[in-house]
Amino acid sequence: MENKEEQKPRLNMASLRDSLGIFEFVRPYRWSFIIGLVLLFLSSTVFMIFPYIVGIMLDVAQGKEVPVQLDLWQIALLLVVVLAFQGVVSYFRVMLFARVSEGSSADIRKAVYQKLISLPVVFFEKSRVGELVSRMTNDIEKIYNTFYFVLAEFIRQIIILIGGVAFLAWQTPKLAGVMLLTFPVIVVGAMIFGRRIRKLSKERQEILGDSNTILDETLQSIYAVKAFTNEAFEANRYGGSNDSVIKLSMKYASGRALFATFIITVLFGALFFVIWTGMRMVQSGEITAGQLISFVTFTAVIGAAIAGLGNFYTELVGAVGATERVREILKTPSEVEERSQVNRPAVDIQGNIEFENVQFAYPTRNDVPVLKGVDLSIRAGQKVALVGQSGAGKSTIMQLLLQFHRPEGGTIRLEGIDIQDFDLYSYRSHFAIVPQEVILFGGTIKENVLYGKPDASEAEITEALRKANAFDFVSAFPEGWDTIVGERGIKLSGGQRQRIAIARAILRDPAILLLDEATSSLDAESEKLVQEALNRLMEGRTSIIIAHRLATIREVDCIYVLEGGYIVEQGTHETLSAIPDGAYSSLAKLQFSNAAPAAV
Ligand SMILES: Nc1ncnc2c1ncn2[C@@H]1O[C@H](COP(=O)(O)OP(=O)(O)OP(=O)(O)O)[C@@H](O)[C@H]1O
Ligand SMILES: [Mg+2]
Repeated sequence: MENKEEQKPRLNMASLRDSLGIFEFVRPYRWSFIIGLVLLFLSSTVFMIFPYIVGIMLDVAQGKEVPVQLDLWQIALLLVVVLAFQGVVSYFRVMLFARVSEGSSADIRKAVYQKLISLPVVFFEKSRVGELVSRMTNDIEKIYNTFYFVLAEFIRQIIILIGGVAFLAWQTPKLAGVMLLTFPVIVVGAMIFGRRIRKLSKERQEILGDSNTILDETLQSIYAVKAFTNEAFEANRYGGSNDSVIKLSMKYASGRALFATFIITVLFGALFFVIWTGMRMVQSGEITAGQLISFVTFTAVIGAAIAGLGNFYTELVGAVGATERVREILKTPSEVEERSQVNRPAVDIQGNIEFENVQFAYPTRNDVPVLKGVDLSIRAGQKVALVGQSGAGKSTIMQLLLQFHRPEGGTIRLEGIDIQDFDLYSYRSHFAIVPQEVILFGGTIKENVLYGKPDASEAEITEALRKANAFDFVSAFPEGWDTIVGERGIKLSGGQRQRIAIARAILRDPAILLLDEATSSLDAESEKLVQEALNRLMEGRTSIIIAHRLATIREVDCIYVLEGGYIVEQGTHETLSAIPDGAYSSLAKLQFSNAAPAAV
């Protein structure tokens, strides 16, 4: 993906300007932010009085002439006042920045989530979701830190740096000059190190994402892991991935360690050299001991500021990268935005569906055409079936109909209108799907059924559960429909889940019903129950049924046989069975001669 590009260290004006766009999320909190900045400015400026006062005190103690006429007690009083002021200002500054960072990062999280769920299906097919989630979480955390303290600290250090240097240049210009000679060395060093560390940090983040993906995937498919006794294999895979994390982390750490070493050596080296020079100046009477003390204190403060700047600079650059990725997501056009903006409301939908020469390949596998030219014509109220071997493209047809993907060629029409011209939400509201693999949300049965119609009354839910032949088993649970179904619905059996999905579809009351092998995982008894439920559900609706078991679709109005990307046969069970050596009759022959269903 875009990883290669990301690893290039870059902090150019364009990316910086682009990242500043994130400040749109600060706008609602701008007063807190501005007042916080003012307080920050105040406290940083006032802070610089301390080194000055230390020098003054020494001169006063030695009975020297000083610019302010205060004795030590008065100075003590002044210090208390300054300290109290600092305390109060710092409290409010931290609170204000906390409000800004909490508020804006929550807003960013909400905006990103909203964007994510509105993105086209293909986005999720192209990126691993676990990785995406961990990356987003990390990135938003970085942005949060930036607004919480990194930015503030960065600004503060700069104020201290500039203010301190200016003060020194005014008070002890010669000594300040000596100190400033060491300054560029530190800055250049910090920049080189910062760049390298940033790159390593990014790589570490990515590799950490990979290892989280393993964790995520295997825990979600824990049954598969156990059934195939692949615990050791997965532990190994996760372990290996963690080993590479450690390897990279140590490289990252060594970069940071070197950085710290560099700063400490150079900084203290410079400090001692400057102190030594200052002592000689005191000796020759050029400056007072107080001035030297205040100079040294200032230098230490400035040095700490420079060291801090290096750290905060790398963090800020990291945050710029994070911001870019977040903004990239936010800028990706949503499913609705990337459509032609005709937006006809889908009203009076009966369910006349037409596929004309529809061609399609999945964007993630462009070179494998799935549908090469599919023609279908379904009249309102008809029940039709799609049959064909596994991988023939049956589910794909349903995905195209739901507009999860866009055909590459040909047209799909509903009521004679190109489906791309409809307003997407109102279009989809006429569909309900009972998918091949029912995955429920982790809440209660009731919540899952309500997903079909969030404002349904209790009576409607009961009715839907009854019609779906689910009422009996739901009532048999001690907690009824308030039973928690477990993550992804694992506490229910396959057939139970399917009936919940059917109840959900009944509640939705759609014009068009899509059943993707809704009876595939059932024994004869529950299949009968589900089939009954489905028959009730299909009454008076256009229904498209995918089934491998041909026995379940004998009654439909028309059967389409999909093969090699085309509809190769169509007709009723009788007419198709009558074609000798036809695609359908050979499928049927295979199935009705073997008891076992073919091609599962
Ligand atoms: N999300 C996807 N990305 C890329 N290729 C896909 C995707 N989903 C399906 N395919 C491919 O498209 C082809 C058709 O898949 P589809 O799911 O429509 O088959 P199907 O007829 O429903 O099969 P089954 O009866 O096994 O459910 C298959 O070759 C499959 O590998
Ligand atoms: Mg399928």
